[in-house]
Amino acid sequence: MTAEEAASYINNGDIVGFGGFTPAGCPKEVPTAIAKRAEALHAEGKEFKIGMYTGASTGDSLDGALARANAIAFRTPYQSNKDLRNALNSGQAEYFDMHLSHLAQELRYGFMPKPKFMIIEACQVTDEGEIVPTTGVGNAPTLCRLADHIIVELNHAQPEALRGLHDIYEPQDPPCREAIPVYHVADRVGSDCIKVDPSKILCVVETNRPNEVGAFTPSDEVTRKIGENVATFLENEMKAGRIPASFLPIQSGVGNIANAVLGALGENPHIPPFEMYTEVIQDAVIDLMKKGDVKYASGCSLTISAEKMDEVFADIDFFKKHVVLRPQEISNNPEVARRLGLITINTALEADIFGNINSTHVLGTKMMNGLGGSGDFTRNAYISIFTTPSMAKGGKISAIVPYVSHIDHSEHSVKILITEYGVADLRGKSPRQRAELIIENCVAPEYRPLLREYLEKAPQGHTPLNLNNCFAMHKALAETGDMHNAQF
Ligand code: COA
Repeated sequence: MTAEEAASYINNGDIVGFGGFTPAGCPKEVPTAIAKRAEALHAEGKEFKIGMYTGASTGDSLDGALARANAIAFRTPYQSNKDLRNALNSGQAEYFDMHLSHLAQELRYGFMPKPKFMIIEACQVTDEGEIVPTTGVGNAPTLCRLADHIIVELNHAQPEALRGLHDIYEPQDPPCREAIPVYHVADRVGSDCIKVDPSKILCVVETNRPNEVGAFTPSDEVTRKIGENVATFLENEMKAGRIPASFLPIQSGVGNIANAVLGALGENPHIPPFEMYTEVIQDAVIDLMKKGDVKYASGCSLTISAEKMDEVFADIDFFKKHVVLRPQEISNNPEVARRLGLITINTALEADIFGNINSTHVLGTKMMNGLGGSGDFTRNAYISIFTTPSMAKGGKISAIVPYVSHIDHSEHSVKILITEYGVADLRGKSPRQRAELIIENCVAPEYRPLLREYLEKAPQGHTPLNLNNCFAMHKALAETGDMHNAQF
């Protein structure tokens, strides 16, 4: 079918699942056609909005096109598209932010309505109902099983040789769930494709469109320094015997900072070659793998630039021996994360002096992206690390404040905070001790006097939280455009 014919089956109020994870492996043609259908129907004065389940963020031809067409009724679990961000912050679309490992099971449990349609990008589909996803798996196995109808986008830009990269496994539900048998990063426990009832495949739409993964911002002095601080911290943990000499698997978050941190780990001569049990496999991992610094990577997607993707396609047999792509329920599984002993490294938008982390909300109200898998990993880590540049927006914002304006990860889950200025090791510290460490080691020098003043004036008690002014820095930003103007 053409994408337009496929899109014509989807009606106002339908709930649609999408395959892929980040722009990697997301369908492109049919979502764009649905957006055009929405615009045409809106022009006729008719309503058209769909509910959307995805893996995580998607490409612009999916989230961007549907948001611009005002075609989204609700959307979960993670996004990072500018137009969608505007839509959900303006109330045009409802958004609920979820731990990425939770969505598949919550759909199976019936906590949310099942999807009617599933649209999945594949590099291969057979008459027997075997669907081989491309570079991102996401929630595709569960969404395919739950949906009434499946639309396959067969993307010829993705080689069939990708078959063998995936490990598709869906856990049973309680009370019958058994241990997920991933005992080592590279264990394969499922099948190399998604198996569906072929009668559910409504149509196949062919395309040749490349992934829409954007390039990373090159590292700058701040991100390089953060990366060095992470690497030195881990080196010292090894020397102290708290991390085994063989090292532990790394989970690394999304974005520019995470990419730079991984680069720094590879450059540290004291850190041995390591494995990754992570969610997104970004550009830096491909370089480290080619150099032998990363031995194996388990993830949910290859979220890599076009240039890196060409390198992978050119040497696909090598990468199939060193990479496995799993559904996010498994790549981010808390049980597996705890068992493997992951060193988790995620990025905070904002941290407070007690170690609470805001990964998502600017000034407590505006959604940036979502918490993604950061909670799946942080809560279950061997050591959970958060990194952040100490300041944002040219210094008008201190990333470290008296109290975060939204909590995604609480002080009970966060062990280490790292900025370009240094490391705060929060393990075994009381709230007051943590506050002193964070101000001394992580806060930008120009903001230290303000935060010390806050702490000095805060009431006694287990946690020195001053209800009258713990958001004074946020208020100063909102009212004057600069946190320096805060008064305590
Ligand atoms: N207040 C307001 N804005 C802030 C801010 C703060 N405290 N800190 C950073 N920002 C802004 C930056 O200025 C930048 O804005 P711009 O795009 O207009 O320049 C933007 O946030 C992104 O920051 P950047 O420094 O480029 O970081 P990043 O690309 O590494 O992204 C997060 C950082 C937190 C947004 C990103 O890591 C994220 O979405 N995390 C949550 C999900 C997650 O952790 N997933 C990993 C699980 S595997």
